[in-house]
Amino acid sequence: MTSRIIPVSAFDYVVFGATGDLTYKKLIPALYHRFADGQFDENSRIIGLARKNLTNDEFKQFVKKSILEHSDKSLIDEKNIERFLPCFHYIMNDIFKDNGWSELAKILRKDENIVRAFYLAVPPSLFAPICENIAKYGLWRCDARVVVEKPLGHDLASSKAINNAIEKTFCEDQIYRIDHYLGKETVQNLLALRFANILFEPIWNYAHIDHVQISVTETVGAGNRAYYDETGALRDMVQNHILQLLCLVAMEPPASDSANALRDEKLKVLHSLAPIRGNDVERLTVRGQYGSISSENATVKSYQDELPPDLKGSLTETFVALKVNVDNWRWAGVPFYLRTGKRMAKRMSEIIINFQQIPHSIFSHSDKAPNPNKLVLRLQPDEGVKLFMIIKDPGPGGMRLKEVHLNLSFADTFTERTPDAYERLLMDVIRGNQTLFMRRDELEAAWAWIDPIMQAWKESDKPPQIYSAGTWGPTASIALIERDGRSWHDEDDF
Ligand code: BG6
Repeated sequence: MTSRIIPVSAFDYVVFGATGDLTYKKLIPALYHRFADGQFDENSRIIGLARKNLTNDEFKQFVKKSILEHSDKSLIDEKNIERFLPCFHYIMNDIFKDNGWSELAKILRKDENIVRAFYLAVPPSLFAPICENIAKYGLWRCDARVVVEKPLGHDLASSKAINNAIEKTFCEDQIYRIDHYLGKETVQNLLALRFANILFEPIWNYAHIDHVQISVTETVGAGNRAYYDETGALRDMVQNHILQLLCLVAMEPPASDSANALRDEKLKVLHSLAPIRGNDVERLTVRGQYGSISSENATVKSYQDELPPDLKGSLTETFVALKVNVDNWRWAGVPFYLRTGKRMAKRMSEIIINFQQIPHSIFSHSDKAPNPNKLVLRLQPDEGVKLFMIIKDPGPGGMRLKEVHLNLSFADTFTERTPDAYERLLMDVIRGNQTLFMRRDELEAAWAWIDPIMQAWKESDKPPQIYSAGTWGPTASIALIERDGRSWHDEDDF
């Protein structure tokens, strides 16, 4: 792969929550990678704000530690790190008090002409006071950007409240709502696959596709995170990441790659999702919670056992599977099966397009029709695309049919490092490109679809089904797809 680094203009990234986990594990390493690749230089400044009483030097040590722990080992270079560290400045700031804001204003005023971005790596309850202070201290500019991240609400009403608070200071063109899945290379590759090739689009519809599966499974647990217990798998993964993936699979070709052209098409998909409410919730959704599992060597705790005492008995789902219909002409009668969970058998994110059976088999020696074609897009790990096809098994023995796959493994095809999603997204903010960020109406359409499911679960007297840690979720999830005569894609089949 020939690398084409397009340098971005100098910028000021003002990061609120500068000593938090997101900054430490994702933002600093991503910025370092872009710096090491030469995408920006020392004229850019990264100004961290947090409540901790740190000196500039102490903050730089924190930055260095983050790079050493979380950046790609192939890019760690002492000289680069030493060139990168002077970009950082630290300001002690309590968002609710006056300290720090004037100092921030002073630093920003040193160069009024460079791109200005505010990254709110803090809980949403702090978005409103931060935005108010940005205006109050004269830090707002009509070309400034603000970056926010989930959880952008826990339902439609709270999501509206968050957006209203941000919009008191910033307008939609200035707001970058991150869904880091959109920054993943393979997710963008889905756009290339669909719209830069003629092959798939003519058959990308109800006439040729039997069903679609989207699985995002993780092996890690969730129990220690109080935030997760208030959230659960449906809000944490489906409302954002998985629905965004579904949109990219299901949307009509946008007229261009402009941010709004793409987001208009995604919005239409969200508006076409068949509502799941009332009695349908039990039929079309499965929620689970992981139980413990013990082997000779180790015991994996159940979700309940990981929780602090005051949260015991929680009904929060750590797994969800759904059968979803997209009620429009292209997808009439084509179910989308979605599933995601913590403490599953494998970490894996895949989109599987299952094509229809051939209409008639001419192969009289074969007692069953050949397996239908299948296109598998693997987002992680082992990013790549596989097309399952039927060929003749070579050699004598009659016309024996065999399933093989055309394999486009990214690791084998491209030798360069695959950038982390944040690298792309952080630079897109500086470039002013909102294509891979969610617009307010998309976010709200997703919540409007999720809310009735949450409501029905709340009213239900059935708790989530327990599944053993390290498995593929509750048996009801297998039944959800098998009662339609289909099955989840075999995870080893890649
Ligand atoms: C986050 C969720 O948005 O995505 C986490 O809040 C989840 O619970 C994570 O673990 C998964 O992201 P990735 O990139 O590791 O698939």
